[in-house]
Amino acid sequence: VPSTAKVVWQKFSSQTDFDRDTFFYGTFPKDFSWGVSSSAYQIEGGWDADGKGPSIWDNFTHIPGNIKNNDTGDIACDSYNKMEEDIYLLRALGVKNYCFSLSWSRIFPSGRNNSINSHGVDYYNRLIDGLVANNIMPIVTLYHWDLPQALQDIGGWENSTLIDLFDSFADFCFQTFGDRVKFWITLNEPQVIAWVGYGLGTFPPNINDPGSAPYRVAHILLKAHARVYHTYDDKYRASQGGVITLCPNIEWVEPKTPSDPRDIEAADRHLQFLVGWFTHPIFKNGDYPEVMKWQVGNRSELQNLPSSRLPVFTAEEREYIRGTADVFCFNTYTSKIHRAVAWGLRRLLNWIKEEYENPPIYIIENGVGIKTTSDVDDNTRIFYYKTYIDEALKAYSLDNVNLRGYNAWSLMDDFEWLNGYDPRFGLHQVDFDNPNRPRTPKRSAVYYAEIIRNNGIPM
Ligand code: NOJ
Repeated sequence: VPSTAKVVWQKFSSQTDFDRDTFFYGTFPKDFSWGVSSSAYQIEGGWDADGKGPSIWDNFTHIPGNIKNNDTGDIACDSYNKMEEDIYLLRALGVKNYCFSLSWSRIFPSGRNNSINSHGVDYYNRLIDGLVANNIMPIVTLYHWDLPQALQDIGGWENSTLIDLFDSFADFCFQTFGDRVKFWITLNEPQVIAWVGYGLGTFPPNINDPGSAPYRVAHILLKAHARVYHTYDDKYRASQGGVITLCPNIEWVEPKTPSDPRDIEAADRHLQFLVGWFTHPIFKNGDYPEVMKWQVGNRSELQNLPSSRLPVFTAEEREYIRGTADVFCFNTYTSKIHRAVAWGLRRLLNWIKEEYENPPIYIIENGVGIKTTSDVDDNTRIFYYKTYIDEALKAYSLDNVNLRGYNAWSLMDDFEWLNGYDPRFGLHQVDFDNPNRPRTPKRSAVYYAEIIRNNGIPM
């Protein structure tokens, strides 16, 4: 197995702890895309407002005991009714982009294009118009986990019909919003969809089948992504001129004993599995990484055996999937050794550069959840952003990584899935006990706005 981790490790092997942790001052180029991110279910609320259909997260959170404190996203940050205020916060931060997701069942209540909810369409039209009027580029995610319940009822992402249904939803969105939206993300964190939803089963649809369901689901997700990419390419790119990609969650994995080649290979295997599962097919050769084939039983001499857990792409499918992303996006929160290490981000960016031939890269989510009732004096978060952004700066300035944008997660405190409203990830505090959900900037919002204004961390 060729090891990109080895290349990255060798590059940094002479770094002392002091070199590694030394602060670097500098700025990004003028057109660097600073932003913040959010997602529909986590902030919108209005779970059944104006004809919206139920999603798997609506139904899951309504069952007592599923979520910490029995919290739900029924109201969340009430962004469905507070769009103007959200745009105001974005303007105050000075962001160049805002990444948010569309609620599929707000637009198609039953998941299908035979019922279109004009109120939902109107909501997103107003949001997009508001962003564009304020010179904030919308980055729109088509799927951030809130599948329409009606589509779960036919098997969710285990049913390959979803490839067509997702495509028709995406097609509608391109047609309706694509005159103003120039940056599309098909799937947010597809590994989480496959693994946590269908392997561990802790997220809806709560299927606990780690042996094979995640691989089958990932196979369908990859085909669905590729289909949507081609729809954009064939029907809309010429007139709309945007970019489209997907957004996996990835972490740098540091070999525990860097002098031991086995540890370096283990770290690389982890990266190939976690990152490569979705990015090799798209950014490399249309197929899963060799280590995956080897480890989950689909190495060439065993292909198509009943024991094989990794489905196989045909040559035609490989050709169809390869190259279906215009830029490389990812979410990252930590590195894997024993504690969070900001310098892992620099190494991860170097790994992507080496492994996928230096693609344009956007970090779509990066942030820290703090387990307290939201404190506006959030020095821990300031430290986190300062060190992570500094590592991004090193990767850009010292390593020539083609980094084009950085988004903080999140614009404001929001519904954090199984954990309800704790921990808090926001740059703005939201008072969830107050029916008006007032937002207050934390010190980190002021700090991040300053980084944006300075376009980095100048001397
Ligand atoms: C990634 C997910 O995309 C987002 O929904 C979540 O809130 C953050 N990570 C923080 O856990």
